[in-house]
Amino acid sequence: MKIAVSGKGGVGKTTISANLIYLFAKNGFNVFAVDADPDASLGLTLGMDPQKLASLTPLVDMKEVIEQKSGGKGAFYNLNPEVEDVIDNYSLQQGKVKFLIMGGIKQGGSACYCRENSFLNAVLNSLLLDKKEVVVLDMSAGIEHLTRGTARGVDLMLIVTEPTRNGLKTAKVVRQLASDLGIGKIKVVGNKIRSEEEKDFIRHNFLGMDVIGFLPYHNKVWEKSMEENPEIFGEEDLLTGMEEVYQEIVKEAI
Ligand SMILES: Nc1ncnc2c1ncn2[C@@H]1O[C@H](COP(=O)(O)OP(=O)(O)OP(=O)(O)O)[C@@H](O)[C@H]1O
Ligand SMILES: [Mg+2]
Repeated sequence: MKIAVSGKGGVGKTTISANLIYLFAKNGFNVFAVDADPDASLGLTLGMDPQKLASLTPLVDMKEVIEQKSGGKGAFYNLNPEVEDVIDNYSLQQGKVKFLIMGGIKQGGSACYCRENSFLNAVLNSLLLDKKEVVVLDMSAGIEHLTRGTARGVDLMLIVTEPTRNGLKTAKVVRQLASDLGIGKIKVVGNKIRSEEEKDFIRHNFLGMDVIGFLPYHNKVWEKSMEENPEIFGEEDLLTGMEEVYQEIVKEAI
């Protein structure tokens, strides 16, 4: 099962990715947790050791590995480097979870980052198309890491939203991007919900979108984000209603 999580900034993509990763692991799956948001924070949310996280280089910045894998420094580079070992050697393991940081797609005025970007693409290709394990991609609203090729491996795009006009606007943009890439299943989950009115707002405004659940606003989740070194993500961190959303996702993504 390969799940990509997207939505407007700050809506709860990383929180919900961490919830999903925890539940997949709890249910016996080996999980690749991939931080594909340039503003990486999934590792900390999962409660990984900050020192180990600091020493984990984003894949896009692994200059030497990229050079080696893509055929040296010359003008010609391998478009499909073998990256299997990179995924195993450069991830951080915590129980059944292997954690990787992608780093942002490089866009340079005159500089060409073809090599870096084709390396990232090869890693995603391997994760999404070859691996049997569960993959959860914590993305930004721009889902530029995905290409038509790698998106074939995504079983479900989960769009997180708050009950706001801006959330709705972004959700529509992401839905369009995801469907342009050919992702068949696109679902919405409402987060930080404080009332029935807010659920109704989402139900009424997100017409045509498949809303698979609502997760309430939790003070303790918000408060945890103030902690410098949060503990390993555990049962007490689960959002109420997350088990049901997880079950829906498993049903859809199989
Ligand atoms: N259901 C919730 N109840 C209360 N606070 C929440 C909830 N979901 C997320 N938050 C808080 O909202 C903030 C943003 O959440 P999170 O980092 O998961 O969002 P994001 O979409 O990944 O943000 P970014 O776009 O910056 O990556 C965090 O402080 C998080 O603790
Ligand atoms: Mg995030």
